[in-house]
Amino acid sequence: MALGILPEKKMKLTTFYKIYYRHRIKKASYVLKIYLIITVFFRYIFNLFYLPKKKNLDDYAKENQNLFQKDLNYLCEYFNSDKGEKFKNQYAKPSKQDDKKITAHGYSKIYEKYLKENKEKNLNIIELGSFYGNASAAFYFYFKNSQIYSADINPDMYLYKSKRLENFFTDTSSKDSIEKNILTRNIQFDLIIEDASHMLKDQIISLFVLFKSLKSGGIFIVEEIDFPEKKEDMRTGQEFPDLKTILKKIINKEDFNSKYINKDEKNYFLENFDTIKFYNGNINEIAIIKKK
Ligand SMILES: C[S@@+](CC[C@H](N)C(=O)[O-])C[C@H]1O[C@@H](n2cnc3c(N)ncnc32)[C@H](O)[C@@H]1O
Repeated sequence: MALGILPEKKMKLTTFYKIYYRHRIKKASYVLKIYLIITVFFRYIFNLFYLPKKKNLDDYAKENQNLFQKDLNYLCEYFNSDKGEKFKNQYAKPSKQDDKKITAHGYSKIYEKYLKENKEKNLNIIELGSFYGNASAAFYFYFKNSQIYSADINPDMYLYKSKRLENFFTDTSSKDSIEKNILTRNIQFDLIIEDASHMLKDQIISLFVLFKSLKSGGIFIVEEIDFPEKKEDMRTGQEFPDLKTILKKIINKEDFNSKYINKDEKNYFLENFDTIKFYNGNINEIAIIKKK
C-alpha cells in the first residue's frame, strides 16, 4: 500500500463509502450528512487495521491438507461465508465484527445434493457477488481440482489469492458489463452462482445472459430469489415480473414477458433448460436450474 504504516489492504475508500456509508448518508439529516462526509476518510483508515491480510490459499493449503476432506458446510463456516448454517456477520464494518455466530442461509447442504458427485472433477465455477471471497475459499477446498472465478462490482474487497482463483470487476445490472467482463473470456461454466445485488432486474439479466455460457448438464443457482418479492428496495423503479415469477410461469408452461431480456435470450433459455427447482434456506429461497 502507498501509505507505508498502513496494513497491506486492497479495499478502496470509494468501496468502503459505498458499502457502509452511502445508504446512511442518503437518509441522514443535513447536519449528520456533513458530519459523516467529513469523518468517513478517518473511519476508513481506522477500519483498514481490522481487515485481515490477503490469504494465499496455495500456501495455506500446504499446512491445512485436512480441509480438502471437509464437507461444504464445514468449509463455509470455516471461511465465514453465509452459505453455511452459521457465520460471524461478515457484513458488519471490519471494526465492528465480533466472534458471535449467527444464523446463515444454510444453502450449503442444498448445494451438496447437486454437486457432491462431481466435486473431484476439473470444473469451471463462477460466483457473481463475491464480497470478501469467503465462499470461493470454501469452494477452493471442496472442488480441489477446479478453477474458481469471482465477479463483483467491488473486486477490491477480495481477500484471497491462488493459481485456481481469479476475481475481477463485473456489474451484473449491465448486459454490456457481463458481456465484456465474462462472456468475452469464452469460458463454459459447470456452475454459475448468482449472489450479487439481488435486485429484480439484475437477477433476470444474469440468468438469461449467462445461460449460454453454462455447459450442457451445468447448474445455475440464484440465491435470495425471493428478495425482489419481499424487499421493496430490491425492486424500486424496476418492472415486474421478477425472476421467481418468471421461473414459476416457465414451470407451469405459461408465457411471460420481461423488458430486461430480448427474444433470443428468452428462447435460448426455454429451449435449453432441463429442470427448475426452488428450495428454502434458513432465511431465504434459492432456485436451482439445470441445463439440458
Ligand atoms: C451477498 S454479498 C456476496 C457474499 C458472498 N457470495 C459470500 O458467500 O460470502 C453481495 C456482493 O455483491 C456485490 N454486488 C452488489 N451489486 C453488484 C452488481 N451490480 N454487480 C456485481 N456485484 C454486485 C457486492 O459488492 C457484494 O460483494
